[in-house]
Formats: sequence, C-alpha cells, structure tokens
Amino acid sequence: MLIIHHPAAMTAWAKEQAKAGRSIALVPTMGYFHEGHLSLMRTAARHADVVAVSLFVNPTQFGPQEDLAAYPRNFERDQAMAEGAGVQVLFAPEAADMYPAGFCTTVTVGKELTDQLCGASRPGHFAGVATVVCKLFQIVRPDAAVFGEKDFQQLAVIRRMTADLNLGVEIVAHPTVREEDGLAMSSRNTYLAPSQREAALSLSRAIALARKMAAEGERSAERLTAELRDFIHSFPATAVDYISFVDQDSLRPAEEIDAQTVLALAVKIGGKVRLIDNGKVLA
Ligand code: PAF
Repeated sequence: MLIIHHPAAMTAWAKEQAKAGRSIALVPTMGYFHEGHLSLMRTAARHADVVAVSLFVNPTQFGPQEDLAAYPRNFERDQAMAEGAGVQVLFAPEAADMYPAGFCTTVTVGKELTDQLCGASRPGHFAGVATVVCKLFQIVRPDAAVFGEKDFQQLAVIRRMTADLNLGVEIVAHPTVREEDGLAMSSRNTYLAPSQREAALSLSRAIALARKMAAEGERSAERLTAELRDFIHSFPATAVDYISFVDQDSLRPAEEIDAQTVLALAVKIGGKVRLIDNGKVLA
C-alpha cells in the first residue's frame, strides 16, 4: 500500500490511474479505524478498480469547544488495518498542506440542510465537512466515494453538494455497522468509560422502541419524541441533544411519520461524549 502525504503527489497518482483506465473509489476518514471503516473500504473495492483512503483529522469541522486535540489517533495501526483491507493508497495530508497560508474559500451547503440536527449545536461544522470533502474530491479525483449512513446529515449534505457543484462523483451510502449489542460503531466510542457503555445503548434502543411503537400504529412524531425522550433519560447520565423525525432527503421535520422518515438522535453521555445514531422507523 502506498502512503502519500502531499496533495500534489496524490493528484499525480490519480492522474496515472485515469491514464491507465482504472477507476478510483475514495473512502474519506478521520482515522482511528474500526470495523465500520473497514467495511466502507471493502464496499469501495466493489465500486472501482482501486481504493484510496484519506486520513485527515480536519480541523475546520471542529468547533472551538470540541475535541480536535483529543480526537483519537493511531497512524501505525490505521496503516496496518487499511493495508489488511486491500487499500491501494492511504492519503494522509498535513493540515498546513490542506490549508496553506492565504486559504480563504469555504463551501457552504444551504441552511435547510445544515442548520438543524447536528448543525444546530455545531455551527460551521458542515461548512468544514463540505469544504474538505470538496477538496478531497479535487485532489483524489474519485469516480465513487463511500460514506457511512451513521452520519446521516453529513451524507445528505455531501449528496447535495456533489449534485449542486456537478462534482461527478458517485456517492455510495454504507449502512451503519453496529456492535453486537446494537451500538453504532464510532471512533468516539473510545471516549466511553465502561460504566457509560450501557447508557450509550440508549440510542439504538430508542430507535428499536420507535419501530415497535410505529409497528403498533403510532404515527405522531410529537408523541414518539416525548416517549423516546423519557426512555433515553431513563438511562443514567444521558442528556438528549435532539430527537428528530425528518424526511430522508430534504431533512424537513415530519409531523406524521411515513416510509421516507428517518429518526435522527444525538445524546450526550456523562456530559462529554456526544453520540449520534439514526434509522428508518417504518419499513
Ligand atoms: O465522517 C468523517 O469522518 C468526516 O466528517 C469526513 C467525511 C472524513 C470529512 O472530514
């Protein structure tokens, strides 16, 4: 597996692949790989001839109070895992090369997709994500890029940006990969103390509860939200950031749930670790 640090070298590699007639699938990541990342990489391999993984803890998507410095990192381990997953190139740029002196361009996707859900408590986050993903698409020139459905709003924002800016990249959504007990895999799970692990299950269990209530005929987003809030708060040290029932594409709030409705959740565990999860409620 090739390791490339510099954006210009990455683009040179991408041009060679294009010349040789090989398609590229990109998996953008912030590293600290787990099984979820590895399945994105395996899916990428089914969509193109060669797979590039980017590993960049993007500073512009972290707020001033967020965990940029503490974000878990382990380059050697990530390198071995990507290699084991059959990845051809690991692109790991330095922040100074992604954002050199004078950098002053930002891609902002409309507020109808970015102001609510995670955007409400993380102002500027999605502009940071859209800008870095747009840059990664320009640098790596992929035919396809794979993103996890766990970051449901991010996926909607990236789909919109890719269509609106004619970026010509096929966006492939990968279903959320879960631990056996239902917890959605996330690099942030490493922040959970053993005593908080049970509380972290409140998210996936809340989705299961919503599905059960929907199967029994409940359609009111308001009543479901009230029930789920109490359910989540019955776990120790949990604080709901949001519980939202939204349309899967427009992210507009749904009053009555239907087959297009996604339940999206963000919950703080122990005052510090903010976890997200989502899922459709009706089949
Ligand atoms: O989902 C992530 O890990 C990040 O938001 C992404 C897409 C790699 C952009 O930095």
